[in-house]
Amino acid sequence: MAEIELKETHFLVSQTDEKGVITFANEDFSAVCGYSLEELVGKPHNIVRHPDMPKAAFKQLWDTIKSGKTWTGLVKNRAKSGDFYWVYATIMVSKNHEGETSYLSARKRATPEEIAEAEALYRTMV
Ligand SMILES: Cc1cc2nc3c(=O)[nH]c(=O)nc-3n(C[C@H](O)[C@H](O)[C@H](O)COP(=O)(O)O)c2cc1C
Repeated sequence: MAEIELKETHFLVSQTDEKGVITFANEDFSAVCGYSLEELVGKPHNIVRHPDMPKAAFKQLWDTIKSGKTWTGLVKNRAKSGDFYWVYATIMVSKNHEGETSYLSARKRATPEEIAEAEALYRTMV
């Protein structure tokens, strides 16, 4: 499967509820992953999970955001076509006026060096 290279200007945004179900996605996210906005909203965020991503990375992500902190890291995602793309992601918690929690993720292109580092690290994790 081929790598999809993000453009410098790509900025992929999504929002989930507390369980990781997508409640919002922007056009860039839809364009890169190949799923329409209708296909994304209402689905669990693992819709773009790539099998190369270690379970432990997601545990760390969830532990971090559940504790109210912001998580940053490299993520390899699987597009609808089966191709893959790497992103540098920042995921944070957001609370609305009613006190309801949601999570926001903003992603940009990762550098080849960051990707190489993450590939090596994730190979050592399960
Ligand atoms: C705001 C937010 C954004 C997320 N973005 C992604 C993503 O782009 N790719 C991904 O594989 N998992 C993402 N996750 C993590 C998924 O919810 C999920 O934990 C992960 O895909 C592992 O799937 P699994 O729990 O079914 O093994 C995100 C979670 C949150 C809260």
